[in-house]
Amino acid sequence: MMTRPTNLCTALVLLSLLGAITESRKVPLGRQRRFDQQGTLQEDEEFWNRWLQRETSLDVDVAYASTNTPTATPPTTLTSSPTVTPSPTPKPTHPPISDTTIVDMIQSTSRFDGLEFEDPESYQSRALDWVVTNTPSDPTAAGFPLSPQKILQRYALACLYYSTFAAPNSITGLSGDVRGWIDATGWLVFPDECSWYQVACNDFGYVTKIELYSNRLTGSLPYELALLQDWLTTLDVYQNILENSGAEGHAWLGELHNLQYLFYGRTFFQNDNGIPSVIGTLTRLKEYDCSYVLYDGPLDGSTFVNLTNLEYMDLSGNRYNSGIPSQLASLPQLQFLYGVHADLTGSLDFVLDMPAIIELWVDNNPIMTGTIPSSIEQVSTLVSLGISNCSLTGTLPPFLGDEFVQFFAHDNALTGTIPAEWGALEDVKRIELHDNLLVGTMPDEVCDLREAFRLVRLTTDCQRQVGTVACDCCTCCGPSCSFLQNTDATAEVSWP
Ligand SMILES: *[C@@H]1O[C@H](CO)[C@@H](O)[C@H](O)[C@H]1NC(C)=O
Ligand SMILES: *[C@@H]1O[C@H](CO)[C@@H](O)[C@H](O)[C@H]1NC(C)=O
Repeated sequence: MMTRPTNLCTALVLLSLLGAITESRKVPLGRQRRFDQQGTLQEDEEFWNRWLQRETSLDVDVAYASTNTPTATPPTTLTSSPTVTPSPTPKPTHPPISDTTIVDMIQSTSRFDGLEFEDPESYQSRALDWVVTNTPSDPTAAGFPLSPQKILQRYALACLYYSTFAAPNSITGLSGDVRGWIDATGWLVFPDECSWYQVACNDFGYVTKIELYSNRLTGSLPYELALLQDWLTTLDVYQNILENSGAEGHAWLGELHNLQYLFYGRTFFQNDNGIPSVIGTLTRLKEYDCSYVLYDGPLDGSTFVNLTNLEYMDLSGNRYNSGIPSQLASLPQLQFLYGVHADLTGSLDFVLDMPAIIELWVDNNPIMTGTIPSSIEQVSTLVSLGISNCSLTGTLPPFLGDEFVQFFAHDNALTGTIPAEWGALEDVKRIELHDNLLVGTMPDEVCDLREAFRLVRLTTDCQRQVGTVACDCCTCCGPSCSFLQNTDATAEVSWP
């Protein structure tokens, strides 16, 4: 159970996170853990950058499919046969649960009156065949007692495999070669499903985690995953070419009521009315990522009211054309919220409702207007605010929480001067204010943070135009700073 973080607790968390933050890049605090875990997620960055500008999605999709299909590379064993038939070990004796019982049990989970089993090529038929052929005759052979629940679990995982391994969808194109998973070690081959690639089980042999991020899953996630509802706490399919559409494509997610970690950002999940309401039934969720999928339409506040355990949410990269609902903002545990490039409207006032927020990024929402609330220091947990490239007006707040670390407000229409009070922000690492209408002189108190404290990046317009901020201690000046995010860190730490 997380309680609302005290300032000390926040500081400790941040200290450990900050060690890994590089000087030159804008790095979210909340995602540090996931980036560590997922290592090389950046490899498709160019594609995703293009995807950000998606005008005609199909063109981009085709480009993606083709750039990711090297022609010269010989396919690996697994990818070479789209109709994978893993070679099972021969079954000398009959399984203790009869094949007929297994077939009945599995067929009774059908949501289509068993029609899917009439097609021998359906993923369900293939999964059923696999379960029947691969039920160990010795119940302890795979290190578990074979229960009906275990059999259904094996069926659910086999469904996942057959419906996403080299399976076509409208993104990959419905015909032609679709490559299989990047890594499928053990899947349908090792007797114990708990030892398959990126599957984790509890002590009783039931699946608690499936973490197949960045693994070239295609097709769609199957509704049969709902059979794992008693134990599954983590489902991570971040960055795959999965297509699940509309209410039907999401409905089964609502049955996974034990989920605490749900990540399907950078897939092709699609919905026309914002974040699907079924997500609101997952009341144990702690972390949720639906960033850069195909969600259009407004965020409905009532969806979020029961997500009282939510700590982390990334809803960036979609087109909501609505504000952040107060029901979402006021969630008691919400510490990290990202809504970058999401067609968010309205003002930033919702931040005043956030009881636990540590990092809030809503950059690149050009239709977000209003001012930065002058009472923002009352949001005492907040230490990282990203509001760059919106249409904010008004002045900078004189007071921020003492522990502020990052303040990104460049590319707005902010006016007035830079508050000398900011000289008290001894923990601050990055302040980016360029491309605004600010005037005056950078206060000495703020410049002092450059020498004596952590501040490694400080940007304004530096009197490149008449009537902007005079700044001798800035690390970067003017609009081009927006496009110099990833330059050599040493360039930034030296004084101009
Ligand atoms: C939230 O929980 C309450 C109490 O269980 C329930 O009545 C309500 O329908 C739930 N709201 C949503 C949107 O799920
Ligand atoms: C501002 O946001 C718009 C729309 O998201 C984007 O096209 C533009 O490149 C952004 N500008 C900067 C300076 O980041």
